Formats: sequence, C-alpha cells, structure tokens
Amino acid sequence: MVTDKNYYLNRRNFLKLGAGTIVSSQAIAEELAKTNLDLVPSDSEYAYNYVNFYEFSTNKSECVRLASKSSLNDKAISIEIGGLCENPMTLTDLSAFKIVERVYKLRCVEAWSMNLPWQGFELRELINLAKPISEAKFVKFTSLYDPDIFPDQRFNGVLDYPYVEGLRLDEAMHPLTLLATGLYKEKLKAQNGAPIRLVVPWKYGFKYIKSIAKIEFTKEQPISSWEKYNPNEYGFYANVNPNVPHPRWSQASHRVLGSFFKEDTQLFNGYEEEVGYLYKDLDLRKNF
Ligand code: MTE
Repeated sequence: MVTDKNYYLNRRNFLKLGAGTIVSSQAIAEELAKTNLDLVPSDSEYAYNYVNFYEFSTNKSECVRLASKSSLNDKAISIEIGGLCENPMTLTDLSAFKIVERVYKLRCVEAWSMNLPWQGFELRELINLAKPISEAKFVKFTSLYDPDIFPDQRFNGVLDYPYVEGLRLDEAMHPLTLLATGLYKEKLKAQNGAPIRLVVPWKYGFKYIKSIAKIEFTKEQPISSWEKYNPNEYGFYANVNPNVPHPRWSQASHRVLGSFFKEDTQLFNGYEEEVGYLYKDLDLRKNF
C-alpha cells in the first residue's frame, strides 16, 4: 500500500535502535510487509541523470545538460483545470493538499527500474475539488508547450507536442496516484518534470507525464503521445505486465539501476493487491 514518510522514518529509527527493540521490530516488519516499505530509494544520481524528457532531447545526458540550465527550473506551478467538471480553475496554490512522501518503484517500458522517493499529493484530492460531472470518464494531461524552453518543440521533433497522457477516472482517483512536486526532499529538477508531474506506480514510466500545464476531464479516452507515435507498441493502459511483451523485447524481467542483478517484473509492478480490482473485467493482452 502506501509508503509514507512516517513509516519510512520509523523504519530508519528502528534500524538505528538495534537490540532491545525486538517486539517493536516485529510490529514494524509486519507493517512493512503490508506496505512495500522495503523499497530502499535508489541512488539519486540515477534519478537525476538517467532521464527521459524528449522535449529536451532523446539523448539522456543531453537532456540533463539542457534541462539543468533551462528556465523550467524556476517555473511556478500553474495548471489549467477544465473540461467536464463543476469547478474549472487555474491551480497555483497547493496549500489545500496534504503533502506525502512515497517510495515507489518506477519501471520504464525500456526494461529498467529504480526506486524513487517522491513528495507530492494524491491526485484524487484535486479531482475532488474540481468535481468532475457524471459524463467525465477520463482525465487528460497535457505538458507545457514552450519552444523557447524545449528545443525538440522548435524543430518538429520526435513526438507530436505537447506531450499528452491520460488515465481512466477511477485510475486517477486511486490513492497511489500522485502529482509530484519533489524528489529526494528537493523540489523537482527540470529534467525530472518541474514544477509538477504525474506518478502512477503500477504503469510504465511514460505515463508519468512531466511539467503538466493542463488537466481536463473528458468523455472520450484521450490518445496519449506514445500511443499516437506507435499504437502497436505503446497502449493507453501501459500497465506493467511481465506476460505481455513489447513487440521488440520481453517485459518478463528488467535491470535494476545500481544493481548488478536483473529482477523478475511483477504484474502491476508489484501493486496488484492495491490496483488489480481496477482491471478485473479487462483483457490485459488487448488493452496493453
Ligand atoms: N513527460 C514528458 N513531458 N516528456 C517525456 O519525454 N518521458 C516519459 C515520462 N514523462 C517524458 C515524460 C518517460 S518515457 C519516462 S520513463 C519517465 O518520464 C521518466 O521519468 P524520469 O526521467 O524522471 O525518470
């Protein structure tokens, strides 16, 4: 389930206390088993340097070089919220939301993973404020379009910009789904999607849309950027699934960044208990 900061700190304290804390250690271990807390954050160097942000570049180190000197680092949060809802708004102030810290595994469709300690808030809190009307079935997310900041938007780049992603409304309302504003207790860096991005831990990383400028409630299923680029390789759902290979490679296992070993990939990235019910009536092979 959740991996909030308090649990994480409890675990840290327990590890420091050592002998004499056997009873509480058992209680904590049980708690940890239930909450995925054994996830130790990866070295932050991976999160900061092994990035995908096509608006800057398709090359990971070039992405970091361009992003680190870009004005995106100083951009204030401003998300236009609209579409099928009672309370359209421009979101600039996050004081209404409960900021949480969660350590989640990010599994990229390219078959690597890292564990990331996010700071952010549950997207459902924002959705409850916006009040989608009954016709709203999906949430469409759009990244910032600013060719002054993003070189790949100037040159008719790889993807059709702005970058777009989507979730079913019930997926967006799930308590694991976050809007993140920080990583490793620091404000999001440009290369990681400053000032605010989506985090959906049971889906492949390309769903984690960066630098969000707009959120809309829609009746129709949005077409995400990667789906538009190649619908045979990148589906709308993009749930992590070891049994559904990418047409060009297996998804049964992946490289863990910072570790020598490969790891078996788990259905829904290990969050099956929490999210499996969302897909009980869905053919996961067709809806990949
Ligand atoms: N969001 C935007 N706007 N542009 C992108 O190119 N890349 C996606 C996703 N979000 C991307 C994006 C991909 S492919 C991945 S794996 C994750 O961001 C990577 O997040 P990270 O670089 O912070 O690890």
